[in-house]
Amino acid sequence: MSGIRKIAVLTSGGDAPGMNSAIRAVVFSAAHFGISVVGVLRGYDGLIDWETIPLEVEDVRNINNQGGTILFTSRCERFLQKEYREQAASNLKKNEIDAVVAIGGDGTLRGAIDFRQEGINIICIPGTIDRDVACTEYTLGFDTAANTATEAIDRIRDSSVSHGRCSVVEVMGRKRGYIALWAGMATSADAIVLPEKWDGNFDSITDAIKRRHADGRNSYLVVVAEGVTDAPELAERIREKTGIESRVSVLGYIQRGGQPTAKDRMYGSLMGAYAIEILNRGGKNRIVAIKNDVLIDYDITEAINLENNTLDSFQYELSLLLSE
Ligand code: F6P
Repeated sequence: MSGIRKIAVLTSGGDAPGMNSAIRAVVFSAAHFGISVVGVLRGYDGLIDWETIPLEVEDVRNINNQGGTILFTSRCERFLQKEYREQAASNLKKNEIDAVVAIGGDGTLRGAIDFRQEGINIICIPGTIDRDVACTEYTLGFDTAANTATEAIDRIRDSSVSHGRCSVVEVMGRKRGYIALWAGMATSADAIVLPEKWDGNFDSITDAIKRRHADGRNSYLVVVAEGVTDAPELAERIREKTGIESRVSVLGYIQRGGQPTAKDRMYGSLMGAYAIEILNRGGKNRIVAIKNDVLIDYDITEAINLENNTLDSFQYELSLLLSE
């Protein structure tokens, strides 16, 4: 037996649909094995300030369909400093917590790697709409965010078609282009601008629009991942080079909110339960991951160096073919 009797669960970084399903599965699975759970509020901040709530099965029974995270979240600057990590570790020891389950993205994983130095066993679950945790093919929230972006862009296109305009739509993703790629392909975008592929050449975009214009089209759609290039500047370049009226929509936080899709609920449930399985087999400092659609786990320090989820080249090539 692993000897685990009491654990803490927290969510950290940007909230992501499906986090609640993961919390729910952690609590249900832990209860099944006689492990008690405390919920830490506001991510690593709650560990430092010891803001916690007891979590019983009844507290999480009906949270699968809720967006956001019932435990709240934060991007905790203090956790970058050792003195605060020590304070968090001391709180955990004082409260006889045997392990922490941390649900979040890349920043959460990096925080966990530093935290293991304090002798804390921490199991990570990848949760971020960006799908940018290197070791896993899936992160909770991506499916919901890609669907939300797709639906929003469909609506923008209706208006764009009616006015004969070009719409430039900026989506989230931080340094990854997956939301842009999926939402762009799903909405038949004329150009998709991705951080992994952007070479600073606006001509490739304006030329594509000119070609379509010459073919008799009267509306155009460009999906751009945040941070690649300034969306208003891109719209202005399109207007200058093509004479076509161009408008910008920044989708922003609507992509992070909303009811999780079935996929995010299911993967949240699987990953939450798997985190408890790792603890039961005596696993320490691991991250749950998906590879070839199967649940696996890695040591958190090794995981940060893996590069499994670079932009899929077949998907990228297909996006080019489908926007010809
Ligand atoms: O959670 C991921 C993400 O939504 C990124 O896509 C985006 O760049 C960032 O978080 C925004 O963060 P914040 O909530 O701190 O503004």
